[in-house]
Amino acid sequence: MTTTDPIDFDLLNAQLIALTRDEPDALANSANFVALMYHALPDINWLGIYVRRDDELVLGPFQGKPACVHIPIGRGVCGTAAQSLETLRVDNVNDFAGHIACDVASNSEIVVPLICNGELLGVLDIDSPSLARFSERDQQGIEKLCRSFEALIEKTGYFI
Ligand code: SME
Repeated sequence: MTTTDPIDFDLLNAQLIALTRDEPDALANSANFVALMYHALPDINWLGIYVRRDDELVLGPFQGKPACVHIPIGRGVCGTAAQSLETLRVDNVNDFAGHIACDVASNSEIVVPLICNGELLGVLDIDSPSLARFSERDQQGIEKLCRSFEALIEKTGYFI
């Protein structure tokens, strides 16, 4: 696959379901969720989950370089998405006031809130070294994967 091939998000979703179907451990499933996505999405340099704890987000399972551990709700791209409960797609993180730079190589970012049983579990955060890496189609595909992950966590329970 080259970076110009469209990602088959339906296939990726089927792989996620197959990978986690018989595993009741939520932490293990979360680690595999981020690993599967990190290796399936081209042109990204960081992908992981920040988990909500009280009024902040705390670093959870991820792939990429070590990252900042605590993000207050309402701060940065992650905290802003967590506050609004809406996906944030940022074409150029340098133009986003309050962006938290964990890796200077990151230029664009998408953050999808994760909602389980009606409550904010956390966010999925993905960074890319390319500007405007994430398209509307990517957003829809990534959100679909997140919906499957939420259903999985609702079935197996939280890991926090
Ligand atoms: N850029 C994020 C911080 C997390 S790192 O990208 C892994 C933000 O502004 O919230």
